[in-house]
Amino acid sequence: MKQLLSIDDLSENDIESLLDLAASFAEVQKRSVPKVPALRGKTIVMAFFEDSTRTRSSFDIAARRLSADVATFAAGASSLSKGESLRDTVETITAMGVDAIVVRHAHPGVPGAISRYTDAAIVNAGDGRHQHPTQALLDAYTMREALGEIAGKRILLAGDILNSRVARSNISLFTRMGAEVVVCGPHTLLPPHRDGTMFGYPVSVVKNIDDVIDSVDVAYMLRIQRERIAEAVIPGIGEYRSVYGLTAERASRMAPHAVVMHPGPMNRGVEIDAAVADSDRSLVTQQVANGVVVRMAVLYSILGPGRFDTDDERAVVEDLNLVDTPDPAEGEESGSDHVDPAPQDSSTKPDNASDPATKVKETA
Ligand code: CP
Repeated sequence: MKQLLSIDDLSENDIESLLDLAASFAEVQKRSVPKVPALRGKTIVMAFFEDSTRTRSSFDIAARRLSADVATFAAGASSLSKGESLRDTVETITAMGVDAIVVRHAHPGVPGAISRYTDAAIVNAGDGRHQHPTQALLDAYTMREALGEIAGKRILLAGDILNSRVARSNISLFTRMGAEVVVCGPHTLLPPHRDGTMFGYPVSVVKNIDDVIDSVDVAYMLRIQRERIAEAVIPGIGEYRSVYGLTAERASRMAPHAVVMHPGPMNRGVEIDAAVADSDRSLVTQQVANGVVVRMAVLYSILGPGRFDTDDERAVVEDLNLVDTPDPAEGEESGSDHVDPAPQDSSTKPDNASDPATKVKETA
């Protein structure tokens, strides 16, 4: 994988490999020092031209846990405000020697456009209403973790489908992994659909969430933007909640095993009641937590030695194990045979190098 612009760039095998690789990184997360030197020497720029809490922090943490150097490009404080073009901005960043740029932009297609101005790998962190591929991957990972597998599951996607990059990415991924996708939302917020397809993938559209809520394995709620009221495409918040919201009463009619998901940020009391968002059914926190390991898998697959377009999945995972950062305490007790592929030059090693906290700095 050379870059990731769209979930449609990935084959079903690619997706399975990435999810398995993410599971390997979940093991790394449990270590006392949750860090591997896999991307030591690589530089990743976070270029977020649109606000983000989850995705930016998650990519940042993922890159640092792989020991990459991370630089943040603050669009609002850049020379873009002086009229510099996007192309000049990208070429300027590239000239500093970067290996990958993680891009979030309000306009569809900007990550793809940027990829034409640079040799650095581009990772799409969400572009307008177009695509959010790592959100789809982390959702699939979370769903697989909670329900065992995605094939055969019935997934309800409810809300503003038309303007949602999450819906577009997830409909592609879920259907290709064998799930049945059911869509529900205001008529004004549904994209064109005919012959049982939406965005080119098979879905069924229901007018009433109450018709399906008791039969779904997953209720995936989408954020409703308050601007839609000003645009007069929904009547009002209270009306929206009563017809399309996942209220506590509706959630009580879900099957015992069924789960609730939301990409965030949530509008509590609008598309999802606070009691549902905080209930045992809710996977919202797990989605955020899993975002780190899934993004580690994406960055590693693009920049690491085990890129899965050239190695089979097993080799990738074996490679990951080889770049284990040994836990000094474990090594002393168990005679660990972990291999550090890039041992420190003893002349530069600090005296307190056995301190796990110091080791984190060494690999940063
Ligand atoms: N889910 C998501 O993309 O959230 P952020 O906008 O906070 O990154």
